[in-house]
Amino acid sequence: MTTAAHEPARSDVLVFFGASGDLARKQIFPALYGMVLEGELTVPVVGVAFSQWTLEDLRTRARESVEAAHPDHDPQALDTLLGLLAYVDGDYQDPATFRALKEAVGDAHRPVHYLAIPPVLFATVIEGLASVGLHKHGRVVVEKPFGRDLASAQALDAVVRKAFPEESVFRIDHFLGKEQIMNLLYFRFANSFLEPVWNRDRIASVQITIAEDFGVQGRGAFFESAGALRDVLENHMLQIVALLAMEPPAYQGYGAVHEAKANVFRAIRPLTRNDIVRGQFEGYRDEPGVARGSDVETYVAARLFIDSWRWAGVPWYLRTGKHLPATVHEVIVEFKKPPQALFDDAMMAQHPNHLRFRLQPDGEIALGARVKTPGEEFVGEQRELIAETSGVADRRPYERLLGDAMQGDRALFTSEESVEAAWRVVDGVLTDHAPAIRYAPGTWGPTEADTLIGGDGPWHDPSTPTSHGRK
Ligand code: BG6
Repeated sequence: MTTAAHEPARSDVLVFFGASGDLARKQIFPALYGMVLEGELTVPVVGVAFSQWTLEDLRTRARESVEAAHPDHDPQALDTLLGLLAYVDGDYQDPATFRALKEAVGDAHRPVHYLAIPPVLFATVIEGLASVGLHKHGRVVVEKPFGRDLASAQALDAVVRKAFPEESVFRIDHFLGKEQIMNLLYFRFANSFLEPVWNRDRIASVQITIAEDFGVQGRGAFFESAGALRDVLENHMLQIVALLAMEPPAYQGYGAVHEAKANVFRAIRPLTRNDIVRGQFEGYRDEPGVARGSDVETYVAARLFIDSWRWAGVPWYLRTGKHLPATVHEVIVEFKKPPQALFDDAMMAQHPNHLRFRLQPDGEIALGARVKTPGEEFVGEQRELIAETSGVADRRPYERLLGDAMQGDRALFTSEESVEAAWRVVDGVLTDHAPAIRYAPGTWGPTEADTLIGGDGPWHDPSTPTSHGRK
């Protein structure tokens, strides 16, 4: 699928705000290195930060970051990346920072500006870019979460759109650059057997788990302004919901995918306080940058409904959290029971069939079905037909997405329409919610989430790949 009939012009410089930050260290430098290795990055990269750094400091950071992510890296490619780097240090509030940036950008006339910075700074930086004319012919890549709620997303969009036309705005959700997430779209619409069963008639419920066995990893201050609802549920999880729930795109092209996804967000019933359970791991309040009395959630479980013809009455259960027992992302689609009890044991299994999409750490698509156990009795067990989908060359999501943005390809980015429709889903519960319930690190979060899923449960346990938490 491609976006446009004509080939948009490639960017001739990458300006990268937040170059001394955590995201840069963990994700961006390794991605830039990968792009150099693939021959996709040959233009200057201007890092910008307010850290009293020099170009040498930036190079040291880039080197360390690439070495950590790619222990067997190609030293020549790393040197090439270091050679492409330039650096501007300064306060984003200070007009002098943008004058210095303009000078560093030099003759390049189609810059792409990547904002790997906290959302509160987006407007300041965009206004700064416009003040020196760096928005002209430029593109802007904005990190999620885009805004803090619906109203701030709309206000932010107004600022962005004063400087950049919609086709030059790239709202990044790095999950969309993940191979296994792209495969959700492919698997659904490259196969014909799924469509007849992919609806309220045959599907009982859907569960999505994005679990991480680590905490906030020094990002306490960021997390205080986000929480699991804004950090993961509103974007990464709802994107997964949209790919699974969308109607077939009307034509070949990402415009159709964007429209179909936006329609899902519009059809999701806005969450209310009884649809969610918020949790906070014990010890969160002792993290640097976290308020002693913080009520910010590090875990959230939600039950949502999509009010569409296809999905009427089918509950979707979402949960995500830090300090859970495993780092694993998985979807399980539960099918309904057979209509008649021909075999007693099959009726006893609450969900005799399922489709399981394992998205991380490894890729798997599994069809769960009951198979007869050898012997005289008609009794069986739950088995899975498994297709492994990992093991293929997996480009880092940021490598792919930054490369796409530099080429002007918006296929894997989110539209403002979708962003606003997704905020509408969570907007109410951002402020109207019960207090976060404490949970012990290493557990599956507050037990109140079991009440939320009720008779559609139990929550399936993706850390036990052989039984998948079900009998
Ligand atoms: C980020 C969140 O967007 O996604 C993090 O801010 C989360 O809190 C991360 O850990 C998960 O993404 P990945 O690609 O590391 O699984």
